[in-house]
Amino acid sequence: MPFTIIRNDITKVTADAIVNAANSSLLGGGGVDGAIHRAAGPKLLEECRLLGGCEPGDAKLTKGYDMDCKWIIHTVGPVWQDGSMGEPELLKTCYRNSLSIAKEKKCKSIAFPLISTGVYGYPKDKALEVAVSVISEFLSENDMDVTLVVFDREALVASTEKFGVIQQYINDRFAVEQDDSRKRKIAIFGKRKGGHAAAAAVSEMHIEDMFEAAEAQNYSLVGNTTLPAASLQDIVEKPDETFSEFLLRLIDIKGMTDVETYKKANIDRKLFSKIRSDKNYKPKKQTAVAFAIALELDLPDTKDLLEKAGYALSRSLKFDLIIRYFIENHNYNIYEINEALFAFDQTLIGA
Ligand code: APR
Repeated sequence: MPFTIIRNDITKVTADAIVNAANSSLLGGGGVDGAIHRAAGPKLLEECRLLGGCEPGDAKLTKGYDMDCKWIIHTVGPVWQDGSMGEPELLKTCYRNSLSIAKEKKCKSIAFPLISTGVYGYPKDKALEVAVSVISEFLSENDMDVTLVVFDREALVASTEKFGVIQQYINDRFAVEQDDSRKRKIAIFGKRKGGHAAAAAVSEMHIEDMFEAAEAQNYSLVGNTTLPAASLQDIVEKPDETFSEFLLRLIDIKGMTDVETYKKANIDRKLFSKIRSDKNYKPKKQTAVAFAIALELDLPDTKDLLEKAGYALSRSLKFDLIIRYFIENHNYNIYEINEALFAFDQTLIGA
């Protein structure tokens, strides 16, 4: 997957290049710097001594030594003042310079910590925004697997207001869903005491599955009958069309190129050509959702695309609610969606 965010200790990550949040002496320190020097071993310091330091915003290369990487790219982030002293630009330069060194060395993968967000005090949410803006710009023109390694997810979530809005959306719908589900049980099993007993006997998930299956078949389940729900939207569906065939037709209808599509879907170029050439390709749910986002489909068309791969968008799973939130808000920025999915400990979309 071209862009991903993980919670981990960067010294445990495998990549062609691993980025160190260093200080200008390049002679080691605390935080990431200390962890990388400990993991890479004393030869790293010996090589760093020969580099003559590093200016803030600049980046310098050493070997990876005992770390699971070919290269370590040392960059010096800005010390946070108040955001008006050029900190964002300097932080962008750290990511840009590190990416261009990795590109020069023909790296296929690179892992970054959240530079400057520890000792240097850069607010995590602002730093994440800067990192993602530079990485997404780089990936629009280049092929590389870029991983942001977050050590302390809780601190990141706590510092990010927009995640609070999404949490509220989830809470509201969870409440509605519980209420609807109770009403649905009554609708299916009736108010009779026995009905409640029967309902209680049927697991919540089973009820949910029944409704999701009904919804996926474009039917609403009322009592034990099924009624045709809203007709298909503006894309005439061909029932025997496979997921890949439907996807390629949607790409044509939307007038998008293959490159635009897989870049916006955070899908690896090679995987996309595999999907294009295999009409029976069976995507994972997060891959199918990524294409719906790339094509900027509304909810009904998203459900149609997912249904082709045998999936539905439930009203009770956190992953599904977060996807619904972004589609309902017409926000198809897959980087922002993945930041939110990461914050809520959900699988990221793309492949
Ligand atoms: N793996 C991934 N991330 C880590 C790790 C780790 N092992 N250790 C810390 N972090 C996270 C921190 O939680 C923070 O979010 O990395 C981010 C950057 O924190 P620092 O390492 O303190 O780096 P920075 O804020 O850029 O300050 C650089 O600190 O360690 C010294 O020598 C370094 O003087 C320099 C200064």
